[in-house]
Amino acid sequence: MIGRELVRSVRVFGSVRGWRVVRAAWRQRRTDAWGLPRRGPERARVPGPVEEVVPGPGGGTVRFARSELRISVSAGGTVFWGWDGAGPLPSYALAGEAPEPDPRAVLEPDTDGGWRVVSERVTVAVSRHGAVEIRTPGGVVLRRDPPPRWWEPVGGGPARWVQRSEVPADGRFFGLGGRTAGPRLRDGTYRLWNTAPPRGFSPGDDPVHITMPVQFVVSDAGTHLAFHDNSWDGHVRLTEGEEGAGSGHDRPGIAEVRMSGGPLRCWVVVGTPARVLHGWAALTGAPALPPSWALGAQHARWGFGSEREVRRVVDGYLKRELPLSVLHLDIDHYDAHQVFSVDRERFPDLPGLAADLKERGVRLVSIVDPAVKAEPGNAVYDGGGGIGAFVRDARGDEVRGEVWPGTCAFPDFTDSVVREWWGGLYEERLAQGFSGVWHAMNEPVSFAPFGEQTLPRSARHALDGRGGDHREAHNVYGLTMARAGYDGLRRLRPEERPFLFSRSGWAGMQRYGGTWSGDVSTGWPGLRASLSLVLGLGLCGVPYSGPDVGGFDGDPSPELFLRWFQLGAWLPLFRTHGAIDAGRREPWEFGPDVLEHARAALAERERLRPYFVTLSRLARLTGAPYVRPVWWSAPEDRALRDCEDAFLLGDSLLVAPVLSRGTDRRAVRLPRGRWYDTATGRAYEGPGQVLLEAPPSRIPVLARAGAVIPVRGWGDGLELEVWAPAAGRTGGGLVVRDTGDGWEPAEIERYASRLEDGRVVVERLTDDGVRETDLPVRVRSGEV
Ligand code: GLC
Repeated sequence: MIGRELVRSVRVFGSVRGWRVVRAAWRQRRTDAWGLPRRGPERARVPGPVEEVVPGPGGGTVRFARSELRISVSAGGTVFWGWDGAGPLPSYALAGEAPEPDPRAVLEPDTDGGWRVVSERVTVAVSRHGAVEIRTPGGVVLRRDPPPRWWEPVGGGPARWVQRSEVPADGRFFGLGGRTAGPRLRDGTYRLWNTAPPRGFSPGDDPVHITMPVQFVVSDAGTHLAFHDNSWDGHVRLTEGEEGAGSGHDRPGIAEVRMSGGPLRCWVVVGTPARVLHGWAALTGAPALPPSWALGAQHARWGFGSEREVRRVVDGYLKRELPLSVLHLDIDHYDAHQVFSVDRERFPDLPGLAADLKERGVRLVSIVDPAVKAEPGNAVYDGGGGIGAFVRDARGDEVRGEVWPGTCAFPDFTDSVVREWWGGLYEERLAQGFSGVWHAMNEPVSFAPFGEQTLPRSARHALDGRGGDHREAHNVYGLTMARAGYDGLRRLRPEERPFLFSRSGWAGMQRYGGTWSGDVSTGWPGLRASLSLVLGLGLCGVPYSGPDVGGFDGDPSPELFLRWFQLGAWLPLFRTHGAIDAGRREPWEFGPDVLEHARAALAERERLRPYFVTLSRLARLTGAPYVRPVWWSAPEDRALRDCEDAFLLGDSLLVAPVLSRGTDRRAVRLPRGRWYDTATGRAYEGPGQVLLEAPPSRIPVLARAGAVIPVRGWGDGLELEVWAPAAGRTGGGLVVRDTGDGWEPAEIERYASRLEDGRVVVERLTDDGVRETDLPVRVRSGEV
């Protein structure tokens, strides 16, 4: 078996590296063999019967024979419960302290010897044996967790546990971080362990870069989010329910969370989808606001190779009058792939190049990988070594892995001293003229032909003073690296908002920036997977993301490239990218037709930039993602819960990308209300399904009747595009103006639309009443 693995890895990684990665994989196995306690016999435990109840603010503590349960409902209606004494802190997910408990909510006796906490938005009921129910104020059950079960090693060590939850039979599951098939998560087992798939991925490949124990559940009874705050390795098994299953009884949906260690504690947020995301952002932090240039078109490639090639590509865009906002430099601009260095032969004057491009409206963004070449004389390695920055094994030796630069050490970002040191290194990137950073390989990856492509589980981490190992630190590695980078950029360039996006991360990563798909496979399935990731991550609080347009590997056909480009133009991060050995990704490389259609997509993106700015600001202020599942404003419409091929962009637009070959029309399921096809102006009434034209020149995009959308109008000024409300109805929209790339606060402006004698009227709503708008208004809909 090893012989075969060696042959394969030599083929994949080349002969020298092939040997090295095999050695590294063996080293990892050995390290864990002596570094991890052996799992001996285990004892199973359940809470047992209730013995005592101690009421306290927001709830209190329920003591059972063999465990105790702490419950606290916050003033905003967010529920916390933790077993075995687990409290909300410490937590890498939370933005700060736990929310204030609701002083009026306390444990009181319920029927059948149980207890309950009643608050304005939610009721939590605890049974005599430790089942926990979350109910709406009207008493409808949203979630029921039977008593959990632990398995404790007899010789001591972390306990495994399982927590089952039942949700209404009509409920659908979403979330769990970025999943490749969805957004509706079908029956199956989903792993909670951030993983870089060895090759590109497609729908169904699981897990990938960002996993989170965040379940978003939509049912007739209501929407809720449940978050098991635990970063250990685990699995979630989902089984959708069935109404009237067997003898007419409903079979509930089931989510079973199994964790290999760590606390059993959970947050539950209930309400409309918008309320849930608002509560989630209050808990885990408001999404970082990208600078507005990061909402424009971006181009990346692994292997530009030289300054000349970079200039050729930028010139290619500009001379064809194709808008380009950002160009990304990958690891090939480093000196021998070493982070925080520059290959001066191929990039002799990066600051000069950056300044030049900036003058032409194009920013440079740099990749930053965490692995540091372990070679004395490498300044980053020496600097990190000096402060003990690198992850060590149980014997105290630095852990080594194989990544692009060769044999590497890995900073321990769970140590605040290390984060501060690492953040300071971004000064070099800023001095080179970069405007932002792109974090990759931070699951973290260490190449291995067998076993796991990451650090040994026994590797030691600071865990911010608590101490622990990679079993607990793995899933928060990318998150804590993002924190280091974000804080560093803020310190180094306080007047500008950092631009950072990261391949791996965890709950709360939105505080520091966004993410992208990672190495999604070039092919129609990859195109689908890339939409699923963006939608799922948005529901987990990470609103800024997008795929490698065109797919990471290989050569997309002109048709596939175009359809990917047309989807990307409607996603927050709109960036083409490809591997070093992949085909071209410039829009003009696919023939004149693709170029013209891509040009149209780019022009529409530019025209809608004020809408994207508004959505980015709203995401920060309210937690609502820019890109939302079509059920967002109508979760009661069951048919919408199953829709996987369309999305809402903000409140106003519904985008229906083409995700399969040879398509020139497609079915679109509409939420209730009137919708206009933005290309033809034709009105359609929802709910229901309609068939729309999807010629190569565009994908169907519909506007909600009554929508008021900020767009770039004449002379690049701000203009309001308005779609007529249906007769007897009104409409409206929110606008947040661009206040630049600093920290100036922005104001939400509210606009209302109505019909007056068959004419569309738009007014601004202010605290003092209604007034005329000072913005030009353009009415787009033909039919009133
Ligand atoms: C990883 C990244 C990819 C990048 C490559 C080289 O595969 O996901 O985007 O191009 O590394 O840095």
